[in-house]
Amino acid sequence: MKLNQLDTPVLLIEEDAFLRNMKRMQELAEKAGIAYRPHAKAHKSSEIAKMQIDAGAVGVCCAKLGEAEVLVSHDIKDILITTPVIGISKLTRMMRIANKAKISVVADNSENIAEMAAVAQTCGVRPDVVIEVDVGQGRCGVQPGDAALDLAYEVMSADWLNFKGLQGYQGAIQMTTSFAERDVAARKAVGLLTDTAELIRKAGLPLDYLTGGGSGTSVIDAAAAGLTELQPGGYLFMDSRYREIEWDGGNSIPFEQSLTLLASVISLPEPGRCILDMGLKAVSSDGGPPVPVNLPGASFKFAGEEHSELVFENGSCPLALGDKVAFVPTHCDTTVNLYDRFIAYSGEDVVDVWNIAARGRVQ
Ligand SMILES: Cc1ncc(COP(=O)(O)O)c(C=O)c1O
Repeated sequence: MKLNQLDTPVLLIEEDAFLRNMKRMQELAEKAGIAYRPHAKAHKSSEIAKMQIDAGAVGVCCAKLGEAEVLVSHDIKDILITTPVIGISKLTRMMRIANKAKISVVADNSENIAEMAAVAQTCGVRPDVVIEVDVGQGRCGVQPGDAALDLAYEVMSADWLNFKGLQGYQGAIQMTTSFAERDVAARKAVGLLTDTAELIRKAGLPLDYLTGGGSGTSVIDAAAAGLTELQPGGYLFMDSRYREIEWDGGNSIPFEQSLTLLASVISLPEPGRCILDMGLKAVSSDGGPPVPVNLPGASFKFAGEEHSELVFENGSCPLALGDKVAFVPTHCDTTVNLYDRFIAYSGEDVVDVWNIAARGRVQ
């Protein structure tokens, strides 16, 4: 099948660029002697998770328990859940998958640790617990230093929990435009985590697992040599926000744009304007509007849930009814979550279909 035979809107992956991205991140981690556990929140696909593991990843991360459940049901065997799992109902669900796969989960709260220990005992499962440390993002995570040590003690003293290590993810700096600024901020975040690890080790607790990092800081995290595991997600696809930041000291972007959307012209109401079949339900808008590929002078505007429009500044639309237009999404994660499958292509040919089985699994 050819690309231009696909019904739209459709989510496309340029397979060669995607595979090169996967290989580059794997090599980056390998060269730095760091394990690589890519974040599946970006793709939500067991097929892609398997490819990453076959390429050398130790396992994957999931943001939500629901994502992890889907991946385990598709035979993914090693998952770190990077968001706290709270309450008996969800903890019980987590123990069910921890019976079938190696499940680690972050925690940043005594109450959660106590409840998890009780549910683990009831279910007869011993999950790995990673203390989440707030290394600057101001989202989840206990403060670095003594507060993290206290939680580590709590996990260590719980019969039904294993203390695995620390997570420190600084999401607020992943898209800092200046590489120099991002470099300083990322090293600071890693420093907070390694100092906390040192404190915990000095207190006599075993600790050799420090996980974190994202695509935007991956090059820095690899060079900073503090983390033992990298958890980048969006590098596989890239998006217009990630493309706009400076990479590697402003030199080259190490990852290529592999994810695009294809939409079709469905109406030509005026000479300088066309309507497309891609609205708010087909591409996310949280990062701004998607960027049309190779259409200089075209400005994009959403026109509702199912429609959008392109207005051409010279007053003349070069597109005909049914023509297809490619777009780069501004935010890959939230766009991927809208689709059932990726269509992988090479040149003009469709080469594979990968299901996004965990899309919408936000619980
Ligand atoms: C905890 C955690 N780790 C890693 C990532 C991966 O980030 P990115 O997709 O920017 O590589 C995210 C993304 O939000 C995250 O929340």
